[in-house]
Amino acid sequence: MAENLFLPDTKNRKDLYEALIPQIEALIAPESDMIANLANISAALRQAFNFFWVGFYLDNQQGELVLGPFQGPIACTRIRYNRGVCGHSFSTQQTVIVPDVEAFPGHIACSSDSKSEIVVPFFDSKEKIRGVLDVDSDQLNDFSETDQVYLEQIMGMFSEKI
Ligand code: SME
Repeated sequence: MAENLFLPDTKNRKDLYEALIPQIEALIAPESDMIANLANISAALRQAFNFFWVGFYLDNQQGELVLGPFQGPIACTRIRYNRGVCGHSFSTQQTVIVPDVEAFPGHIACSSDSKSEIVVPFFDSKEKIRGVLDVDSDQLNDFSETDQVYLEQIMGMFSEKI
């Protein structure tokens, strides 16, 4: 496995995702452990984009999402299915983009520095929902359909393995 990610010298998010995706694919391909792969996916996304917080909440099948591998400041450990942006994404099984977290009813502020976020649900190979990817930014309106397309693609690659 390569020791470092190759990242083009650009701030263009599409170009960065295009460079990153085959590297994430290569990183997770030889590894079967779900936590190890989620840990490296969160690290790769943080390294490529320097997002404020990148991580996973995993379904405990008892009504809660529990903090999984992440990169960034400490975070809330448990989120009920019906709470916050993560709970909303999990319950609806849809990606949610929140341009301004203050304007999202029920948003859970793990950090007051978080200004916008995107939450992408992920599934196992039997299409059962297993948790969500949460990416937070300290900038307002930092996520677009570009992030949705590529983050869903990354979680799709991961889904094939679990
Ligand atoms: N903002 C999320 C909670 C998780 S953290 O911000 C890391 C939410 O409203 O679901």
